[in-house]
Amino acid sequence: MCGIVAYLGKKTARPILLEGLKRLEYRGYDSAGIAIVTDGKLYLERRVGRVGNLEEAIDGRKEFDGSLGLCHTRWATHGGVTDFNAHPHRDDRHGIVVVHNGIIENYSALKQYLQEKGHTFASQTDTEVLAMLIGELYEGDIEKAVQAALREVTGAYAIAVICEKEPNVLVAARKGSPLMVGIGSDNEYIVASDGAAIIAHTARVIMLDDYNVVKITRDGFHTTDIHNTPLSPKVQQLEIDLEQIELGAFPHFMLKEIFEQPSSVRACIGGRMNIREGKVVLGGLSSFAKELTKASQVILTAQGTALHAAMIGRYMLEDLAKIPSHTEYASEFRYRNPVIEENTVVVAVSQSGETADTLAALYEAKERGALAIGVVNVVGSSIARETDAGVYLRVGPEIGVASTKAFIGQVGALALISFYMARKRYMSADQCIDMMKEMEAIPAKIEKILESAPRIKKITEKYIERENWLFLGRGYNYPTALEGALKLKEISYIHAEGMPAAEMKHGPIALINEGMPAVFIANRGRQYEKVMSNIQEVRSRGGHVIAVATEGDTEIAKHVQDVMYIPDVCEPLSPMLAVVPLQLMAYYAAVARGHDVDKPRNLAKSVTVE
Ligand code: M6R
Repeated sequence: MCGIVAYLGKKTARPILLEGLKRLEYRGYDSAGIAIVTDGKLYLERRVGRVGNLEEAIDGRKEFDGSLGLCHTRWATHGGVTDFNAHPHRDDRHGIVVVHNGIIENYSALKQYLQEKGHTFASQTDTEVLAMLIGELYEGDIEKAVQAALREVTGAYAIAVICEKEPNVLVAARKGSPLMVGIGSDNEYIVASDGAAIIAHTARVIMLDDYNVVKITRDGFHTTDIHNTPLSPKVQQLEIDLEQIELGAFPHFMLKEIFEQPSSVRACIGGRMNIREGKVVLGGLSSFAKELTKASQVILTAQGTALHAAMIGRYMLEDLAKIPSHTEYASEFRYRNPVIEENTVVVAVSQSGETADTLAALYEAKERGALAIGVVNVVGSSIARETDAGVYLRVGPEIGVASTKAFIGQVGALALISFYMARKRYMSADQCIDMMKEMEAIPAKIEKILESAPRIKKITEKYIERENWLFLGRGYNYPTALEGALKLKEISYIHAEGMPAAEMKHGPIALINEGMPAVFIANRGRQYEKVMSNIQEVRSRGGHVIAVATEGDTEIAKHVQDVMYIPDVCEPLSPMLAVVPLQLMAYYAAVARGHDVDKPRNLAKSVTVE
C-alpha cells in the first residue's frame, strides 16, 4: 500500500529518494510526494499518478538538491486521490512535514481540537491532522513533539518527520506498520517501509518495533519509546538480494516470479526434509513440538491468495495428520466471536506478514489462548514477530502484486507442517518418505509445465474476448480453482468465478452460454470421474472447456476444447502444479488485453488497513 522513504546523509537526497520510491511502486499507490530541506528551507511537491510525474515536476529544480528529505507513495484511504491529499503533509506554523502509512483512528476528534486552536486544514487526510498536532506540540525539539503527538493518537502508523527549523534531524516512528532504518557508511541513513528501498545502499538495518521513535542526526542516531525512555535496538542484516528485486530479462515481475517457482520450492523445502529417516526438520516449530502433538484443532486464517493456500493446508492437515481443521477469512474470524477450545492452534498465513486483517485475527486468537503459528514470507514482519512459532516460506521478495511464488511457497510450507504434525500422530516413516519424495520432485515438474508456456499463451488468446469465466475443481483443487479465478480477475479485469465443480449444478450452471470458458482442474485422482461428468454438463450447454489434465491422459482431449498438461503427482501436492498453468493464463490474458500486469488498478501488494 503506501510507501515511505526518507534520507539524511552527505549526498543529494533526491535521486536516492526517487529510486527508493520506484522500488516501492509494486506495493500499489495512486499519488506521490516529496519534501526536501535545502539550505535551511523546505520544499515540497506532490502529484497524482506515477512517481514519474513527481520526478518530472521537480526535474532540474535546484531547490530540491538538499541532503535531508522524505517522500511517499499514497494509496488513498481518507480523502480522494488529489494532489492536496497526497503526502507529505505539513503543519501550518513550523515547516514540519510528515509522511505516514497507516490510519490515525481518532483523527476526527483531534482535528476538531486543532481547529479550535486555530489551525486550518488543506486536505481531508488523517495524516495532515498528525502533522498539525506535531506542530501544535512543537517547542523547538521535533523529536519531543513527535513523541508527545504519538502519545495522543490511536491507530496505526509508520511515519517519517522533518522540520525546516531543524535541518539536520530526521525523526521516524512506528506502531502497527513496518518501518526500518538503513545504516549506511559515513553517517548516512535511509528510513523506509520496505527493505527494497534500502538494499541498494546498505544491508545493515534496525527494524523499528511498535512505539519506537528514532532520531537521526548527521552525527548518529538514538532510539526511544514515545515516553522518551532510551532503547537499544539491534542492528540486523537485510536478507534481500538486489537481483531478486530487479526484473532482469523478464518484462514483468509476475512472469519472473512464475518462472522462479521451481527455485522457490527448492528454497522452501531445502534442509527441511530428512528423506532417509522420514523426518521433517522445522526449527521454527521445534520448541512447540509437544503442543502441536496434542493439538485438538487447527484454524488457518488468511486473506486472498494466502487463504486459498490455507484451504489446501486444511485439506492436508485433515487428510494426512487427521487433525480437525478449518479455514476462515481473517476479517471474519476476528469479529465472529470464535470459540477457541483448549489446545487450539491458529495458523496465520501471509506473504507480507503485514495484512491488517490477518494480524488482527492473530491478536484475537492469542487473546483467546490459542497457540499462534505463522506461515510468512517476509522475515521480521509483524505476523512473524507476533506469532509464537512459525515457518518462513523462503521464496524471496515477491514484487508482483498478483501473488504467485508465495502461493507455491505457502502450500509447500503447509505441506511440511502437515507432514511434521502427521509424523507426530499417525503417519509412518515410510509414508512420510513417500510424500517427501513427491515433494522433492515438484520443482522439476514445475519446470516441465513452464516449458509449455507458449502453448498456454496460445490457448489463452483464443478466449481473451470473453468477459465471464468459470474455474472448477474438486477436493485439493477446489482452492486451486478459486486461485485461478482470483488471478484472472486481479490483472486482466475479466469476471471469473471459482467454485467446487459439484456446486455448479446448484445455480451457476445458469450462467453457461455458447462459448463461455470453463477451466476445469481435471488431473488424475479420486474425483477424476466426477469431474469428467461435470465437464460433460458444461459441454452440453455450449460452454468451452479448458482442462488442466495429467500428462498421458489423451482421453480427456476428446471431451474438451483445450488441454493444459501437468506431470503426474500425488493429490495433496497437485495444487502446486495445477496452479501454474492458471497463473500463466491470467498473465497472458492481462498482457493480451493491454494491462500493466505489475500495477493492476486499485490493488495494493499488501493490504495494511482493515
Ligand atoms: O501478504 P498476504 O499474503 O497476507 O496478502 C493477502 C492478500 O492480500 C493477497 O494474497 C492478495 O489476495 C493478492 N493480491 C493475491 O494475488
